[in-house]
Amino acid sequence: MLKAPVSFHPQYGAYLVFRFDEVRRVFGDPDTFSSAVYDGLSEELAFSDQIQGMDPPRHTQLRALAAHAFTRRSVAELEPRIRQTAHDLLDQVKDREEFDFVRGFAIPLPIAVISDMLGVPKEDYDTFKEWSDLITEMSERLLTGLPDDPKHVEAIREMRAYFQRLLEERRANPREDLVSQLAAAEIDGRRLTPLEASNFCLLLLVAGNETTTNLLVNAVRTFAEHPEQWELLRSSPDLIPKAVEEVMRYRTSVQLMYRVVKKEVELGGAQMKPGDRVVVFMGAANRDPAKYDRPDVFDITRTPSPHLTFGHGIHQCLGAPLARIEVAAALEAMASRISKLQIPDEAELVPLNNFNMLGLQKLPLVLA
Ligand code: HEM
Repeated sequence: MLKAPVSFHPQYGAYLVFRFDEVRRVFGDPDTFSSAVYDGLSEELAFSDQIQGMDPPRHTQLRALAAHAFTRRSVAELEPRIRQTAHDLLDQVKDREEFDFVRGFAIPLPIAVISDMLGVPKEDYDTFKEWSDLITEMSERLLTGLPDDPKHVEAIREMRAYFQRLLEERRANPREDLVSQLAAAEIDGRRLTPLEASNFCLLLLVAGNETTTNLLVNAVRTFAEHPEQWELLRSSPDLIPKAVEEVMRYRTSVQLMYRVVKKEVELGGAQMKPGDRVVVFMGAANRDPAKYDRPDVFDITRTPSPHLTFGHGIHQCLGAPLARIEVAAALEAMASRISKLQIPDEAELVPLNNFNMLGLQKLPLVLA
């Protein structure tokens, strides 16, 4: 039982941080709380040499490369295609009485979107999903100190080889996609190495899939559990942007992030020294009663308060504008076509078996 706002937890081997202000402070101070939590890992592993695990100045350079592909404006250009994909997926289930929202919608939508952005052909989507799941499993093992599993290392080798082939192809014949941009990109006058470029593709694929899948699942589950809010959304679609923010606050998909302490610091009464590990819990911070009025109430008319779902500061989620558009497009398509979101009475909602992702293995929906 934890008795202080910030305490050391032996099972995590880290200080755990739950309150909004302290979580924000950790995210906002990379000089004290470094992201280099995967340092020292072998190059075989996907998490070595990724921007998410880098500190400035390298982080700043690599992030700048991709940042323009993810601005609100460039992502807005994708919106019509995302909306169309949402409607196509609903068309495929429209004659059924019941369908699993996870497999039928929440998994295929983000995979189609990120693969489209990267320039990956459709026939490879299923393989991508398998790779992405394996890497998520691997991240859990690494952060909780379990040994590597050879199938993960193998999957990463295959993914890197795949992207390196695609990068070479695009270098020879550029198209209007992110892989072509990465193939041509330079930092300080030099091209990205094949490893840097393929690691980047791999990060986008993994960071953009499961996170968005579970945000979609959490959104639809929450509306099914709050029929009056669904009714309100259907009658006032202009509430969609607020609804997206409220779902992210109320049922945060990525629950936690790790940092490692670089210099002595005091946080929430705990004295930390270099090398100590810290885990910040965004899901808890997003329901901090000191920050939000009625934090446990789901209310899509709530005036948005800044939440920490996408982190904060220099590592704040690069894909946030894209994730927001995907959820908005999904809610819009569903609200225009489904009058009642109903989970069958007998359905058992089984949570994901994952230490940091809040979501469901299946979400059966009865269509009305
Ligand atoms: C609901 C969906 C998503 C959630 C909840 C989410 C959450 C996060 C969080 C919390 C971080 C900060 C990590 C840190 O501070 O250590 C992050 C970083 C990142 N996210 Fe997302 N993400 C989502 C969707 C996406 C998408 C769709 C993409 C791209 C296609 C993406 C790409 C990235 C990248 C590249 C970073 C690293 C940025 C950096 O280190 O500078 N994310 N994400």
